[in-house]
Amino acid sequence: MYEMWVSGMMMSPVTSRQKLLLHYTLLHLDSEQMGKIFYDHVLSAMPDVHPMFGDVDAQRKRFMKMMVRIVHTVDEPEQLRIVVRELRDMHAHYHLKPRQFQTMGQAFSMSLVEVMGHRYTPEIGEAWQVLYRRVAEAMQEGGSNAGSSYGSHAMHV
Ligand code: HEM
Repeated sequence: MYEMWVSGMMMSPVTSRQKLLLHYTLLHLDSEQMGKIFYDHVLSAMPDVHPMFGDVDAQRKRFMKMMVRIVHTVDEPEQLRIVVRELRDMHAHYHLKPRQFQTMGQAFSMSLVEVMGHRYTPEIGEAWQVLYRRVAEAMQEGGSNAGSSYGSHAMHV
């Protein structure tokens, strides 16, 4: 696996095949259903975060829109860095824990399996995990919650 250095920060790549699978997913995914099932999983796994969300309906749309934006930006390191910085700033005052990011990632993976149905493959799941981890770790970097819960392959944007 190669590594690419951007402005002094390490980018772990999403492979071309994984990018293809991410786009394939977006083509076939019912985004509304995904958002609904995903937030059901998120809120049942972390009921304590429910009060943090003002309008869950609006939030699930924002989250899904963001995932689309991230997939479309995956080949543009400068743009991706801007997106991730925005996300980091937007979440800063929630003081989220690595475990919460991990739980959210698991909720996303589970929802993907359910929503994609027969189109789902483990390879698709892996592509999304790679992308999610990359974003989640970059969002946590440099803040009070710096540190990874995903093992030693820290991915920085
Ligand atoms: C890769 C991980 C994540 C992504 C891509 C993401 C994405 C987003 C987006 C796009 C917004 C909307 C911001 C706006 O336009 O105002 C948002 C807000 C928010 N996120 Fe996240 N998020 C992530 C992780 C988390 C985690 C782990 C939690 C907590 C468990 C969380 C809690 C919140 C809360 C409380 C809001 C504000 C909702 C509101 O104002 O109603 N996020 N997130």
